[in-house]
Amino acid sequence: ENKINIAIDGPAGAGKSTVAKLVAEKLEFIYIDTGAMYRALTLKAIENKVDLKNEKELTNLLTNTTIELTTTARVFLDEEDVSEQIRSLEVTNSVSFVASHSSVRFEMLDRQRSMAQNGGTVMDGRDIGTAVLPNAQVKVFLSASVDERARRRYEENVAKGFSTNFEQLKQEIALRDKRDSERETAPLKKAKDAIEIDTTHLSIDEVVSSILLIVAERT
Ligand code: C5P
Repeated sequence: ENKINIAIDGPAGAGKSTVAKLVAEKLEFIYIDTGAMYRALTLKAIENKVDLKNEKELTNLLTNTTIELTTTARVFLDEEDVSEQIRSLEVTNSVSFVASHSSVRFEMLDRQRSMAQNGGTVMDGRDIGTAVLPNAQVKVFLSASVDERARRRYEENVAKGFSTNFEQLKQEIALRDKRDSERETAPLKKAKDAIEIDTTHLSIDEVVSSILLIVAERT
């Protein structure tokens, strides 16, 4: 029996990773955080002082880089656990430059497709339904107002003990979405056949249940 793949896309802070993890757990599927792969490359580029606008150098760097996502959602960059470092403000605010290059995306797409080749994955990102897995049996596009998304990030930061300015956070989120939506290659976009769920007024459990319902209807 061949297991399906589930694509979950949407803007920053819409709850994709939280929801995708829970859906994967329920279905005993593998959760694949594609954003973490772009973040890991960004971290390595910053550490190696590679110009984030230099597509060729970034692509070479990626070719010589291993990025491993474990079943417990840890992220290994060249065998080193970078799960926390890739969430830094510096990486967060730089990653969409790295992700804008088409040859970087091409290599990532190749790696992501091979991770999903046997099915049984919940993959979250920006271009999963449109580019990486255009034949995914279930495609979900999670959205939420920018205020609500900033509010969620703010609470996360407070919980982690980071001090943050709400207005600044909101601006950073809006800017990252703008860059992700306006890039030429595989921009952030709802796939035609994706089901959009506006999570602004929904709890995590409600979103997870709606996705499980969609999955049940299609399998
Ligand atoms: O999901 P997360 O916020 O961790 O993603 C970080 C960044 O990685 C996004 O803002 C985007 O620039 C890039 N990304 C992408 N395509 C994906 C996943 C992430 O371009 N499939």
